[in-house]
Amino acid sequence: MASARNTILLTGAHGQLGRELAAALPAVGHVVACDRSKLDLADPDAIINVVRDVAPRVIVNAAAYTAVDRAEREHDTAFAINARAPGILAAEARRAHALLVHYSTDYVFDGASTTPYVESAPVHPLNVYGASKLAGEAAIAASGAAAVTLRTSWVYGRHGQNFLVTMQKLAAERSEVRVVADQTGVPNWSRSLARATARLIGEGVERLAERSGLYHLSAQGSATWFAFARAILRDDPRTRVTPITTADYPTPARRPAYGVLDASHFARTFGFGLPDWHAVLRECLRADAEPPAAAAVH
Ligand SMILES: NC(=O)c1ccc[n+]([C@@H]2O[C@H](COP(=O)([O-])OP(=O)(O)OC[C@H]3O[C@@H](n4cnc5c(N)ncnc54)[C@H](OP(=O)(O)O)[C@@H]3O)[C@@H](O)[C@H]2O)c1
Repeated sequence: MASARNTILLTGAHGQLGRELAAALPAVGHVVACDRSKLDLADPDAIINVVRDVAPRVIVNAAAYTAVDRAEREHDTAFAINARAPGILAAEARRAHALLVHYSTDYVFDGASTTPYVESAPVHPLNVYGASKLAGEAAIAASGAAAVTLRTSWVYGRHGQNFLVTMQKLAAERSEVRVVADQTGVPNWSRSLARATARLIGEGVERLAERSGLYHLSAQGSATWFAFARAILRDDPRTRVTPITTADYPTPARRPAYGVLDASHFARTFGFGLPDWHAVLRECLRADAEPPAAAAVH
């Protein structure tokens, strides 16, 4: 069960997922939460110094370069944060006999599938962000560290830059929002991902370390961005949601047309999963925007 003795080093504590982890993880350990100003993952020496200074039992890496379109022209920065840094964290975890928990993305796939992706499905990222995240997965796997990498998709929450916040803002300004209806995936609330992470750690670090590997962590069901927008704005009669195609909304980075992750391996291994995304969204819309009592950021 939960052990207050575990020191948990959290990176990216000001991101969508990081904020929720800063609130969820104190239930299962002593959290040292670092935002970018305290630990810049672009600086390899800083990573080593902070990990050795904190001497954590668990490192939870919620930091990432997530600007999917900008990554097309900032290849080196994306790879430094999403590939090199996780590799260094993993090497340090191995050296200290710590466990690394890391997050990856459905964008490692090209979206050609029409059925949910299992962990062993062939990868083929369509954009620099996806390639950099895939390289991060590989660096962790090659490190020999005890590490759990959780691939997830379409992360949203009540704060930060994400689709839900954008839709609510657009709906407040316009009578119509036009949303892509030919990309299919699964929306995942940052808080439910954080709670699942805390539950994994709380059930025992040793046990989790023994189950090192790659897992898909996602809510059930699937949606297009259009369907997700309609679900977000269903109680807003003033705003019409109009379906458009990807071709109508060109972006610098290509996105997979299909990115549904099959989370059954996670459920079989850990004995729980996330509910249907509609139910999770309803809970998110009812919840307070700010997570309760977060760990102080160091
Ligand atoms: N967002 C999605 O839809 C999505 C989908 C699938 C998987 N994921 C994965 O889920 C994880 C969490 O993503 P998220 O949605 O929470 O992203 P996010 O909101 O963009 O948060 C990422 C955090 O990383 C920080 N960061 C960026 N560069 C850094 C650096 N050089 N050093 C230290 N921190 C740095 C950012 O700091 P600043 O606040 O200072 O910029 C930000 O707080 C990531 O691994 C991501 O790849 C996300």
